[in-house]
Amino acid sequence: MSSNAPALAPDLDAALRRLRLSAIRHLAPELLVTSKTQRWSPEDFLRTLLEAEITSRDASNSAARLKLAGFPVAKTLEEFDVSQSSVPRPTFDYLASLEWIRAAENLCLVGPAGTGKSHLLVALGHEAVSAGYKVRYFSAPALIETLYRGLADNSVGKVIDQVLRADLILIDEIGFAPMDDTGAQLFFRLIAAAYEHRALGVASHWPFEEWGRFLPEHNTAVSLLDRLVHHGVVVVTSGESFRMKEARARGGQFSSQKK
Ligand SMILES: Nc1ncnc2c1ncn2[C@@H]1O[C@H](COP(=O)(O)OP(=O)(O)OP(=O)(O)O)[C@@H](O)[C@H]1O
Ligand SMILES: [Mg+2]
Repeated sequence: MSSNAPALAPDLDAALRRLRLSAIRHLAPELLVTSKTQRWSPEDFLRTLLEAEITSRDASNSAARLKLAGFPVAKTLEEFDVSQSSVPRPTFDYLASLEWIRAAENLCLVGPAGTGKSHLLVALGHEAVSAGYKVRYFSAPALIETLYRGLADNSVGKVIDQVLRADLILIDEIGFAPMDDTGAQLFFRLIAAAYEHRALGVASHWPFEEWGRFLPEHNTAVSLLDRLVHHGVVVVTSGESFRMKEARARGGQFSSQKK
């Protein structure tokens, strides 16, 4: 703060440091002057200080949760053009309300490449972080690798507990790589532990009936899907890839510029 306000008395400064009230500590010298010159009521003075501290804590908690979430890209719901997607508006509005997270329901997104599955997952995750939820994002191969590492040092249970501390667990790119027996069992363990307990958001480019392609056992695929879709919203994305559309639009621009 650039001001000529006298520094805070050392005992006040020390007390605010000890209580980790850093926003108040930074604001107080200036605010003491302002409140005196503008004849603020003591109540307004206290309110302004407390509001500043709360705002600053909310911001740093939100930044910490955002970091913990591990999103691979920054995507928002505002950037998602519902009219350009196959997601029905009422479904989008329900998902954006985040009520399904509160109810520990699941979201299953299935559809071909470039149809907005990852965008929606990450954007909903961002929205949830802003609303105060703890979120974790994984690509399925990275999640299975994490669980495998737990197997090596006998800590799978702990790793799963840690993941389940999040209110919303997002698992993207399911089926990009085939799972071996152990990987599938570990994956099932996590889904079963989250069932009716935590909200899951999953995405795959394989329709459900084709999950046998990347899961080694038919029964595992059935039991997994059973739990994923029991309480939840299934959204099938379709249409042409956004990436292709954008590439074509760029191509069109180049050719018109050359004219
Ligand atoms: N409805 C939409 N509105 C705005 N941008 C979109 C929409 N759908 C997709 N996109 C954009 O198109 C690109 C591809 O989308 P996304 O990565 O979500 O696809 P995906 O379905 O996850 O594909 P893949 O199966 O290959 O992972 C991203 O840049 C995304 O932001
Ligand atoms: Mg994707």
